[in-house]
Amino acid sequence: MTDPTPPHTHVTNLVTDTAEKTGVKPGAKSAVQVRGVSKIFNAKGKNPVYALRDVDLDIYQGEYIAVMGPSGSGKSTLFNIIGALDRPSQGEICIGELPLAKLRSRQLTFVRCHHIGYVFQAYNLLPALTAIKNVALPAIFSGLSIHDAEELAVIRLKQLGLGHRLDHRPGELSGGQQQRVAIARALVNDPLILLADEPTANLDLNTGSQVIEIFKNLSVDEGVTVISTTHDHKMLANADRVVWVKDGRIDKIRAASELDVAEGTIEISGQRIK
Ligand SMILES: Nc1ncnc2c1ncn2[C@@H]1O[C@H](COP(=O)(O)OP(=O)(O)OP(=O)(O)O)[C@@H](O)[C@H]1O
Ligand SMILES: [Mg+2]
Repeated sequence: MTDPTPPHTHVTNLVTDTAEKTGVKPGAKSAVQVRGVSKIFNAKGKNPVYALRDVDLDIYQGEYIAVMGPSGSGKSTLFNIIGALDRPSQGEICIGELPLAKLRSRQLTFVRCHHIGYVFQAYNLLPALTAIKNVALPAIFSGLSIHDAEELAVIRLKQLGLGHRLDHRPGELSGGQQQRVAIARALVNDPLILLADEPTANLDLNTGSQVIEIFKNLSVDEGVTVISTTHDHKMLANADRVVWVKDGRIDKIRAASELDVAEGTIEISGQRIK
C-alpha cells in the first residue's frame, strides 16, 4: 500500500540542518536512527490510518528530547516503534548500532530489557506488588537473583525520593509517587534510552516539575538518552531539542534554547501559543 500524500522530500535536510544548528554536540554518538519510517494501521481494511509518514529522525546519546504535537499526530506510535514495542510498516530503526528489523525475537527482547526503559502515562504498575517488587521485576527478567534485583530497586527508589515508601503497593501511593516508581522500574537495568509517553499528564504542576527535573538529571548526570512525548510546556524548557510531529510527519525540530518558553509562549506550527 502506498502513502497517498507526496513524500516529505526535505525532511532529511531538515534533520541534518537542525542537528548542526540546534546544539547537537559535534561527534555526538547516535542513540536512535529513524529512517523512512511509516506506520499504517488497518492497512488491508477499508479505512487505513497513516499514523506515521516517511519519518527521519536522529537522536544522540545523552540528549533529552521532547516530542510535541496535537492529539492523533503520531507521537505514541513513534514511541512504540522506537521502543521496539511495534514494528514500522516501512522504514528502519536503529538503536545504537543495532537495526531492529534484523534482530531475532530473543535479541529484540534483550534490547527491550537492557537498552530501553519505558514510562507510560498510566504508570502501568502491578497493583499487587510493592514498590520494591515492581521495580525489581525487569532486573529479575534480565537474569538477576531476587535479592540482587531488589537491592538495585532500593537504590533507584531512594534516588527518586521514595526510600520511605519501599513496601507500599501502588494503591497506597500518590500519582506522583507511582510515576516515580514507574521511572525507577524503567531505570533499574541502567538503560541507554528512557522512553516516556506523556509522563506528566496525570500529575499536578509541582509533581510534574519533579519528574521533568529527574529526566534532566538523568540525561546530564548519567548520560541517559531521554525521549519524552508531552503536552507539557515545562518539559520544553528542560529538553535539549524539541521535535514537533504533525499528521504523522516531523514538522520541525528546534533547540529548546531557541524557544521563548521562559515567558510561557512558544511557537507551534507558525502560531504563538501561550
Ligand atoms: N492500534 C491502532 N489501530 C488503528 N489506528 C491507530 C492505532 N493506534 C493509533 N492509531 C491512530 O494513529 C494515529 C496516531 O495515534 P497516536 O496514538 O500515535 O497519536 P498521539 O500523537 O500519541 O495522540 P495523543 O496526544 O492523543 O496521545 C491516530 O489517528 C490514531 O487514531
Ligand atoms: Mg499518545
